[in-house]
Amino acid sequence: MAKVETKEKKITSKPIKEIPPESAINKKSTKSKKTTQSLEKPFLETIAGIGPTTRKRLEEAGYGSKEAIALATRSQLTEISGIAEKTAALLIREARARFDLGLKKGTDYEVAAKTRVKLTTGSEAFNELLGGGLETGSVTEIAGENGCGKTQIAHQLAVNCVKYFDQDVIWIDSEGTFRFNRIVQMAQALEIDPEVVLSRITVGRAYNSEHQMALTEEALTMVPNVGLIVVDSLMSHFRSEFAGRGTLAERQQLIGRHLSFISKQTEILNCVGLVTNQVSARPDGIFFGDPNRPVGGNVVGHTVTTRLMIRKGKDIKRTATLTKSPELPDGKIEFSITTEGVRDYKK
Ligand code: GTP
Ligand code: MG
Repeated sequence: MAKVETKEKKITSKPIKEIPPESAINKKSTKSKKTTQSLEKPFLETIAGIGPTTRKRLEEAGYGSKEAIALATRSQLTEISGIAEKTAALLIREARARFDLGLKKGTDYEVAAKTRVKLTTGSEAFNELLGGGLETGSVTEIAGENGCGKTQIAHQLAVNCVKYFDQDVIWIDSEGTFRFNRIVQMAQALEIDPEVVLSRITVGRAYNSEHQMALTEEALTMVPNVGLIVVDSLMSHFRSEFAGRGTLAERQQLIGRHLSFISKQTEILNCVGLVTNQVSARPDGIFFGDPNRPVGGNVVGHTVTTRLMIRKGKDIKRTATLTKSPELPDGKIEFSITTEGVRDYKK
């Protein structure tokens, strides 16, 4: 019970005029840590035998930091041109020696959980379903049919991230549906300067799956103070590029890599990860429950921490169903999408 109370203090979904104090404190402590880190010499520069060319290649592939290398596998590094087995082993050994790999006590989890905060959705009912909002440190998937409101929710979370976390947003747009005017409308509704919000969102328009993965990695090295990473949508390019059955294994492998990279980064940066996903009719037919399921199979299902399914109702009405969470019961609520953004549904 005490846990619920702590979370509720951090939630502020009603018209709020200021940053919730606890979120602000937590987020500020992340910031100061980053400032200290940036004074250190970059990891790759401290490794004898790694010249500028190799360093550039590693950085371009998203392995510029000791954290990224410590959590990489040897085969991921040897895939990069010019990185031999011996070099990969050396890099991983050095990175792991300087990075706490993570054997922890149960009490450490308690401490880590306290640094996680919730990003409000804009609807109290929706927040309640999520134990307060979307949690930092993991990836939430929002799935549903065309037009159900996935992209709208992402716009709302981007505005909320700037307003309540005072942090930046990375938005990987694979469908060309980021709309600055929706950000303006939602920001105005929360009485925050739209220009400030827009200036804090870095949008990468992804034209294919390779581009999507590269943009995500680049944005994460470029944007210093990330509170939210949006990938809208996760699967559209992968689905159209890897259409045949024969390409399924390769597709799943790439999605797994892409998604686990995002997941790792949300943990390291203690930010919210949000991926939207399409749905397809279940091939096995179904007599009860939802006839649709998110695409991407087990790889996506296992890698995301929290799964939500959105359904469109009449006019502004929507329903959200929580189908996967490591600590919350499944449930279903009603909310609405209005010109102001995501709000409670009022009959
Ligand atoms: P796909 O990307 O095609 O899978 O759909 P999606 O789930 O991302 O849908 P999206 O978030 O783009 O939602 C589009 C719907 O949001 C519209 O059909 C409207 O119902 C609603 N919507 C968008 N803008 C507004 C607005 O300004 N006011 C209101 N009331 N509703 C809006
Ligand atoms: Mg969309």
